[in-house]
Amino acid sequence: MRPLADNVYAVGVQHWDRRLFDELVPLPHGTSYNAYLVKGSEKTALLDTVDPEKTELLIGHLLKAGADKIDYIISHHAEQDHSGSIPDMLLMYPDAKVVTNPKCAKMLVEHLHIEMDQIIQIEEGQTLSLGDKTLEFIYTPWVHWPETMSTWLAEDKILFPCDFFGSHLATGNLFVTDEARTLEGAKRYYGEIMMPFRSSIRGNLKKLEPLDIQMIAPSHGPVWNKPGVIIDAYAEWVDESVVVNKVVVPYVSMHESTEKMVEYLVEALIERNIGVQQFNLPVSDLGEMVIELVDAATVILGSPTVLVGAHPSAVYCAALMNALRPKTKYAGIIGSFGWGSKMVEQLTSLMGNLKAEMFEPVLARGAATEEGYTALDELADNILQKHRELGIAQ
Ligand code: FEO
Repeated sequence: MRPLADNVYAVGVQHWDRRLFDELVPLPHGTSYNAYLVKGSEKTALLDTVDPEKTELLIGHLLKAGADKIDYIISHHAEQDHSGSIPDMLLMYPDAKVVTNPKCAKMLVEHLHIEMDQIIQIEEGQTLSLGDKTLEFIYTPWVHWPETMSTWLAEDKILFPCDFFGSHLATGNLFVTDEARTLEGAKRYYGEIMMPFRSSIRGNLKKLEPLDIQMIAPSHGPVWNKPGVIIDAYAEWVDESVVVNKVVVPYVSMHESTEKMVEYLVEALIERNIGVQQFNLPVSDLGEMVIELVDAATVILGSPTVLVGAHPSAVYCAALMNALRPKTKYAGIIGSFGWGSKMVEQLTSLMGNLKAEMFEPVLARGAATEEGYTALDELADNILQKHRELGIAQ
């Protein structure tokens, strides 16, 4: 239990050793489930809860904060890492009402079997008075579910945006102390679940512009007491025109033929002063790859041919990129085959959501020969030319 402002307390928990979220998202630094207690002169509100497996810690923090009564449980988002302890909270505080928007209310009923008569449904822009503190509800959907909203605590100028602006990071620090580390956690989180919805996020950012935000208290990671840092970062990430002179090269190789092609291409890109990040798919943290995909101008996927198609690791990567829809402008496929290959057609069809222009693929029969390496040099030249046209390369 730690104070953010007068009568505003952080009562959430850290999950230091969680290493995977949604059985998909790698969490090398754990995560946190932030919940906040706002005590007004007349009413008390709990903003979000925690993942159900950490309910006991939440209860301990509430007791330490002297929360002998809670009138409202504000639910910003129905996903269980924030809503999962609501049923226990309703048992502990039987007079409390859950406050949320109609979409989220429906989901809370469906996912947690909360009774509709335990929920007060609010509309966009509606306010809820706690006495000397006022909560205003702002719809900020699609960060990554359609029902997510934020709360604006006007008297203290604190925004509670739930997942939005959050970072998967377990830390003992209430506020951001290491901006670079927190930004990386936020970029990882944005890339892994929010990136496909960036047009909605642009709208959400616009909606927040009139607010004089002094503090952003998200539901994951430390509190931003310099909110401009994370707002500016998001503004760049969601801007379709902001890409970096960088090539992401995820690949898999069975007998080094594809790996040698990848290494040759990476050297060729470095010689042309193009930033590059190489990821050996079976052993890499794919979250790091996603961080790079947030703003890379180009991605080149490398795969050998196995059972006539692409290697399953490359298939997974293509499907993941297709789901995350990065703003990557150019893409390509390189790799090898023994006697025949359908992998280019297969991978191309799997990446249909990418709006990227495709380079001519470079495939080698067996280990690449001089002809193959010449084609890779040409690919590096083409990438440089395209990056120059974007105004991001010399
Ligand atoms: Fe942190 Fe979408 O839940």
